[in-house]
Amino acid sequence: MNKHQTDNTSASAFPVQKIRAMFPALQRAGDFIFLDNAAGAQIPQSVLDAVTNHLVGHNVQRGGRYGRSVTVDQSVAEARESVALLINAYSPSEICFGMNATSFIRLVSLGIGQMLTERDEIVVTDMDHDANIATWLALEPAGAKFKWWRMREDGNLHVKDLEPLVSDRTRLVACTVTAHSIGSIVDVAAVARIAHAAGAEVFLDCVHYGPHGLMDVQAWGCDYLVCSGYKNFSPHMGFLWGRFETLKRLPTFREDFIPDEPPYKVEAGTFIYENVSGMDAAVRYLESIGRNFLPENNRSRRDNIVAGMNAIRDYELMLSREMMKVLKDCGATIYGVADEARMHERVPTFCFNIGKLSPQKIVEEMAAMQIGIRDGHMYAPRLMKRLNLSMDSGAIRASLVHYNTVEEVHRFGEALRTIVAKLS
Ligand SMILES: Cc1ncc(COP(=O)(O)O)c(C=O)c1O
Repeated sequence: MNKHQTDNTSASAFPVQKIRAMFPALQRAGDFIFLDNAAGAQIPQSVLDAVTNHLVGHNVQRGGRYGRSVTVDQSVAEARESVALLINAYSPSEICFGMNATSFIRLVSLGIGQMLTERDEIVVTDMDHDANIATWLALEPAGAKFKWWRMREDGNLHVKDLEPLVSDRTRLVACTVTAHSIGSIVDVAAVARIAHAAGAEVFLDCVHYGPHGLMDVQAWGCDYLVCSGYKNFSPHMGFLWGRFETLKRLPTFREDFIPDEPPYKVEAGTFIYENVSGMDAAVRYLESIGRNFLPENNRSRRDNIVAGMNAIRDYELMLSREMMKVLKDCGATIYGVADEARMHERVPTFCFNIGKLSPQKIVEEMAAMQIGIRDGHMYAPRLMKRLNLSMDSGAIRASLVHYNTVEEVHRFGEALRTIVAKLS
């Protein structure tokens, strides 16, 4: 995982007000506070401009010989390059665009289901979004067997617990990079080392980690990775990365005239070109944050991304600490990592309850006070069971990203105190 450590100086140098000025939704929001970012983030003006530019300037099918169509081909190629830089892919041809993360995970699981041999075991976790569990369990009729890697009481997956689950029968380990529900960060580089030593592959759900830290498929050594653009400051779309040779071997559906090569063999039909242009602009936005933190000379686009994501990580660590204090002060039961000394193991996504108070009521009261948070099972039924929470009421989640501020955290805290006093 990213070894970059927080440093309060860089957190205080983070240009959050300049950043907020780039997001039209934040400028128009008045008093409203966006604290449901794990369900989808806002987009900067540059992303909106890229989408509009596509729709107004060249909203035609790609693959034609006329200028507008050629421009679409170019913009898709540029987006592949940008996303490849964002995650440090070996090549842009490993980047596949589509609707969302879930459909990509299912696409890979369908392919792997056709290749099961005596290596038929798949490791899944009880800390993941169900999109990265149910899609694998659906391979049971194809003969897959499952091993469960369980979260420990301390709110994280421990690689020591993975070791005994992996053997020469393991086909794949499917796990999250960061839990969307409770914010815990997994040591995925260690996961890949353990899986590869046994000849197994690793599928990473990076949907939740993407907006919070530096992605690096080469450093992590994984085989597949999936992200949802709409969590990464872009419009609704998703992308899948796989090693070129791995994707080449994966059985997929394609018409005969589509090249049997990544990325084309993975991208059935037409995807949303304007949103892919938006994703390209979102990567450039993250680069622009990094440019503030690096000297002028000799920096590559990837250097800017690295600097931008490290600055975001430092700033968010500070937000996590503030949020933790506020929640503890309100008497919250925090699910996941709650120890001040382990803040580097989490992102600012907080799942909690307050005694026996109804999560739904608290979230409704928050909505009335112009604060958008979420209650429920967080699409993580197995985690809810693990935490002894009912699927009906579940928990409350407040999820922050780098455009949130300490002032917002404090306003959230005041609102929570008022609500708890009212409902108790
Ligand atoms: C960790 C995680 N994985 C997968 C998904 C599903 O993503 P999508 O909506 O792009 O299918 C989500 C959505 O919230 C998520 O948070």
